[in-house]
Amino acid sequence: MDNSEDSFIVRGGKPLKGQIQLSGAKNVALKVLIAALLFDSPITFKNIPRIRDINELLHLINKLGAQADFTDSNTVVVDSHGLSSDTIDLLHAAKIRASFMFFAPLLYRFGKAFIPNPGGCRLGARPIDRHISMLQAFGVKVTYNSETGFYESQLNGNSIRGTTFTFDKPTHTGTELAIMLASRADGESVIKNAAQEPEIDDLINLLNQAGAHIKRENGSVLIKGTPILHYKNDSFTIMVDRNEAPTFASFGITTRGDIMIYGIKESDIEYFATEIKNIGAGVEVLPEGIRFYYKGELKSSSITTGPHPGFMTDWQGPWAVMMTQAHGVSTIHETIFEDRFGYVSELQKLGADIEFYQPELDNPRKIYQFNIENDDNLKSLQQAIRIKGPTQLHNGVMDVKDLRAGATILIAACSAEGESVINGASIIDRGYEDIERKLQSLGAAIKRV
Ligand code: EPZ
Repeated sequence: MDNSEDSFIVRGGKPLKGQIQLSGAKNVALKVLIAALLFDSPITFKNIPRIRDINELLHLINKLGAQADFTDSNTVVVDSHGLSSDTIDLLHAAKIRASFMFFAPLLYRFGKAFIPNPGGCRLGARPIDRHISMLQAFGVKVTYNSETGFYESQLNGNSIRGTTFTFDKPTHTGTELAIMLASRADGESVIKNAAQEPEIDDLINLLNQAGAHIKRENGSVLIKGTPILHYKNDSFTIMVDRNEAPTFASFGITTRGDIMIYGIKESDIEYFATEIKNIGAGVEVLPEGIRFYYKGELKSSSITTGPHPGFMTDWQGPWAVMMTQAHGVSTIHETIFEDRFGYVSELQKLGADIEFYQPELDNPRKIYQFNIENDDNLKSLQQAIRIKGPTQLHNGVMDVKDLRAGATILIAACSAEGESVINGASIIDRGYEDIERKLQSLGAAIKRV
């Protein structure tokens, strides 16, 4: 019986200095491992992070009859041959939101798929209405069984039909699911108002290297269905994590330290790097990565998150805790998810001066990427915060609300004077590989209990 408390104890107040090698991108790994089930032969992936979401996913894939396992520290081999079930296990699907991506391989292999309503982080409702409309455009009959909580889907006819579909608002995983389906459809497909995140391009590259015909054109993705998906090279190496880099940049700057982050390209976090320079922190772009460092008083900032190439929603928590150390009043306006400020109450425990406010918006339905049922919803939204700084944070006992909020409060604990406890270490493990080892290598006094 594992009698650990599932907590981190951190003694903060010391600048974090040194270097880290980024892990592979969680939000690529989750999709390419599922896309591999569309392939006609086994495929080897490199740079797959050893994180809880991936372990859950591998377990799910094996329960479906296929083989997917780590063969060394960050290499996974997937062989779809044994795939034999068209139903996703409720227990495991509830743990990772990406479970609805299985619509693609199960519909392709069996003509039907039974998948529970997705779980994952609780960042607001996170419905999949846009995904369902897109499935229906591909000729899939989808009904939601509210008794069982399962989506029940069936191909009309015996193959996926190529289509032209426009997302009313961009969706990162929705675009990826459409690409997976279209790669195995009869005929051509055009996905309009497609999401632009670079993680999607890793999936496109994988499929094209296995014989698919996919290209981006003016905000759309054009896909010609292919009869064969066979990966000819030895292995496919996924990109580094575009969320881990800004997280460690904030560890460095918030603690007045200096961290070299190997593996990241400036083009993948351009908006973030520009904003870091604007607040007066140091950014040194090198061939092998980027060095982020504290070089004096931080200026306040005003950030609004947005779909790529905007300021990514996953970066705003680590940004917020950095702004507790900036001089003046900073604002963050979150437009992608509702309920993405779970860390605010935790930072306030450490003395952070943060308050919610209602931004004046002409057209909220255009600004916000999430669905707004009616105007009453608008009044209850908490989408913007003001952060006054600088504040010397003190220690406290905090709870992790979601993956990125967990990283945010870990940064705060490293900056705060004294010893803090963070409950919910396993939620941080969902998306950050070996985080305490990486932090210890930077001089952090952190231990898992
Ligand atoms: C992906 O989430 C990522 N997750 C998120 O990372 C990331 O923050 C987000 O994209 C934006 O880049 C994975 O890739 C597994 P969306 P996704 O569909 O695809 C609403 C992390 O911590 N929406 O672009 O779910 C939705 O609720 C995670 O690594 C609908 O209303 O994001 C959200 O408010 C967090 N109906 C907005 O649109 C739909 O059918 C954008 O969501 C689909 C989405």
